[in-house]
Amino acid sequence: MTIEDNNQINILAVDDVESNLLFLVDILKIDNYHVIPASSALRAQELIAENMPDLILLDIQMPDMDGFQLCQQLKSEASTEEIPIIFISGLNNCESIVHGFDAGAVDFITKPFKAKEVLARVRTHLALRRLKHSLEEKNEQVRTSLEHKSELQSQLLASEKMASLGRAVAGIAHELNTPMGLCVTATSYLNEKNKQVKEDFNHKKLSSSDMVSYIEAVEETLEIIMTSMNRSTEMVNNFKMVAVDVSSEKLRSFVLHDYLSRVVNSLTPALRKTNHTIEIIGDDLVIDSYPGALSQVVTNIVMNAIIHAFDEGDKGHILIRTVHDGSNVHLNCSDDGKGMSNESLKQVFEAYYTTRENDGGSGLGTHIIHQLVTDTLQGQISCSSELGIGTMFTITLPIHLYE
Ligand SMILES: Nc1ncnc2c1ncn2[C@@H]1O[C@H](COP(=O)(O)OP(=O)(O)OP(=O)(O)O)[C@@H](O)[C@H]1O
Ligand SMILES: [Mg+2]
Repeated sequence: MTIEDNNQINILAVDDVESNLLFLVDILKIDNYHVIPASSALRAQELIAENMPDLILLDIQMPDMDGFQLCQQLKSEASTEEIPIIFISGLNNCESIVHGFDAGAVDFITKPFKAKEVLARVRTHLALRRLKHSLEEKNEQVRTSLEHKSELQSQLLASEKMASLGRAVAGIAHELNTPMGLCVTATSYLNEKNKQVKEDFNHKKLSSSDMVSYIEAVEETLEIIMTSMNRSTEMVNNFKMVAVDVSSEKLRSFVLHDYLSRVVNSLTPALRKTNHTIEIIGDDLVIDSYPGALSQVVTNIVMNAIIHAFDEGDKGHILIRTVHDGSNVHLNCSDDGKGMSNESLKQVFEAYYTTRENDGGSGLGTHIIHQLVTDTLQGQISCSSELGIGTMFTITLPIHLYE
């Protein structure tokens, strides 16, 4: 800020002795400030209401209302409490100075004063005020950007939830295709058989051995239909449970292995295209947690292993081992794939870090895993990996979460 710009700074000078007031105005004009003189505290109040000053130079001993009173009043009101006030007074005893600071002043100049001293103190307090403003602005910017970030993160979580639901829907549709196809073939076979038997019967050509082979065919076909329908019902139930958990975020009790198996089952279509095996071993127990979040975490880890750890044709092994330890349960999810470099490992949980940028990877999978484990599931997660050996995600979760 140059001295020319100072004419935009309003300084209110308050003194009941006219010669003092004129002297102050002359001094402040040296630095080109815009000075508003007031000959009493009451007049100062009127001027402040009209035009908010950036700084006030305030005499103490004045008739009607003294400087301490005006200062206290200004400091007690939200609209004026931020204005820096410097007392200029003939009272130079320690008690008055302390009283001045107690009333809320930022500085105290004793009369007779020197022009240089007044200017130096005014400059200092204006600079401090500017600094304070810019810090407040920066603070506000940081706060807004933090708010924006957390809003983005919750949008991210919501869209990942929908994506994982989408994957499950695609999976179930794909899986239902096989048993439903079998049922269609079996019923049309039954239909044909029935027509044949009916015709033979009408033409009195139906022998007892024809009848026996018909009954056997019906029994076999019904068996196929029943097995397929049972498998379909089981898949729909599985899907319903995982889908409800993913979308509702409800805390509930569930059997860990049972639930992990359901989640792994929902990934069968992706696994079937590979030669990999997946196994769940270790301590089984009932936990109180958020199954939807756990399902998303395990889905992402297993999908990452399928996508990143192996080459086509590899026979990989993905292992989920659970270990119960006091009030926690540890889930070690490992693969025996190609592993990651130290460089990748360091950034693995960072948002947007991916080695498959040109292949549709967003780099958000592990970031979301981390957020779900540490936020929703209130646990911890770490990752270890060695090139040529494999990767392991270690998750520690409280066994009992409470709402
Ligand atoms: N099991 C694993 N084996 C080897 N590398 C892995 C494994 N899991 C993750 N990575 C590495 O970590 C990176 C980040 O994973 P993340 O899930 O965040 O992103 P992505 O899988 O590339 O993309 P997206 O999940 O959005 O499809 C991957 O690009 C990959 O390099
Ligand atoms: Mg991923």
